[in-house]
Amino acid sequence: MVVALVTDADIPSNALHALSQVIASRGRVLALTGAGISAESGIPTFRGPEGYWRVGSVNYRPEELATFAAFQRMPAEIWGWYLHRRSFCRKANPNPAHLALAELERKLGDRFVLVTQNVDGLHLRAGNSLERTYQIHGNIDYVRCAAECGTGIRALPEGLGTDWPKDTIPSGDHLELLHCDGCGAFLRPHVLWFDEYYDEERYRFESSIAAIEAADLLLVIGTSGATNLPMQIVQRASQRGISILVINQDPSPFSAIAAASEHGAFLQGAAGTWLPRLVEYMTVVD
Ligand code: OAD
Repeated sequence: MVVALVTDADIPSNALHALSQVIASRGRVLALTGAGISAESGIPTFRGPEGYWRVGSVNYRPEELATFAAFQRMPAEIWGWYLHRRSFCRKANPNPAHLALAELERKLGDRFVLVTQNVDGLHLRAGNSLERTYQIHGNIDYVRCAAECGTGIRALPEGLGTDWPKDTIPSGDHLELLHCDGCGAFLRPHVLWFDEYYDEERYRFESSIAAIEAADLLLVIGTSGATNLPMQIVQRASQRGISILVINQDPSPFSAIAAASEHGAFLQGAAGTWLPRLVEYMTVVD
């Protein structure tokens, strides 16, 4: 077990070993990211202090409103929250942690896969390729017909702008834009909700499972470990006995697994501090 604080100059020995091993063996790396990697870009995490949803005068947890059932009950209110959250994403820029993962993809090519729970699109803007970035919870810049009329995934209509005020429910022309031009039903954000299932076509489920089966090193960055596919990925990595490095400000179920494993480490601290150092080390030992 190796625990280090981000202020320490040294990368723990288990992590050094895992990183040099994967380079020497030309192994495969899977990076799994969550909201914590975008926190330093100014996007609130889900379970942090700003991570609630406010509708009217009531605060809800994401699990209560990020559902298709809630969307069917109050589509305009749910859209108001997503449009405001998207404003944060559009204003934000990739931070050093995103840039380090883009650098890692450039370095490893098809030996690298990025599985992200984030819908903010920052990995793509940092330079990771769509082909190798599995956005398992969707992307907030995209919509699809809520009635699944077959018109596919498309960009959010431009007329909605990129600066949506907090607690504002769309109406009038804005509401009109949020309807499918194929069948007239509501459009919905292209995101996975809590009462829905992962699939391959929209959310790269099978590809993610295949990636962890093939991986030699798992990097887990900025996630609390609360959703299903990420849990499967970390459990499978643990069963396969591959190295797991977890970067997080705080302990999580994933950091406990990494810290307890023979080939893993928990690197406590900010993603924007740790990741560039790890990627730089991989470059030096190459
Ligand atoms: P959470 O908000 O649950 O967790 C964010 C994690 O990032 C926490 O463990 C923080 O300690 C950590 N963290 C915060 N700042 C950090 C930093 N600068 N560097 C490193 N770590 C940091 O977000 P997720 O785990 O991504 O799902 O949440 C998973 C899913 O639950 C989301 O994708 C979303 C949500 O409800 C759906 O919408 C389906």
